Amino acid sequence: MKSEPLTLPLDKEDCETLDFMLSYIIKSQDEKYATKHNVRAGVGLAAPQLGILKRMFVIYIPKDEKQEEVCYQLVNPQIIEESYKLIAMKEGEGCLSVDEEHPGLAHRHYAIKMKAYDYHTKQDITIDASGYEAVVLQHEFDHLEGVLFYDRIDKLNPNKRKDNEELI
Ligand code: NI
Repeated sequence: MKSEPLTLPLDKEDCETLDFMLSYIIKSQDEKYATKHNVRAGVGLAAPQLGILKRMFVIYIPKDEKQEEVCYQLVNPQIIEESYKLIAMKEGEGCLSVDEEHPGLAHRHYAIKMKAYDYHTKQDITIDASGYEAVVLQHEFDHLEGVLFYDRIDKLNPNKRKDNEELI
């Protein structure tokens, strides 16, 4: 289902939801916590995954060799630019709301520009993302539209790379 836009400023409940979502995702990446509480590790979570049909999601990607830490609590995100070049994850994508395996390439734009209100920094932001970060942003944005990653896999040719597509 499609989620509804929020009105700003956010009310207390929406702020609490955003904080709950971020802390959930950060904790899910703690191996000890995840094992103890039987939760899967995730890098993003969208409000509709909690049954709240509002246009907000969080992302937390820890710093590694390839990139800096990415942390957002986005409200009313909009994708304002998309690259012609595509990207897909070789091993496929996963989702905390999808338990079954859905092997195949989920085709996405290699780079996007996204506008949103970021509750984390309390300001309107424009994000220029590419590569893995762009994949995660598009995955979470899709949740707001009621789209899941396997909707982006070609059912007849699940592992076929597109011409202008980079695999990561
Ligand atoms: Ni998901």
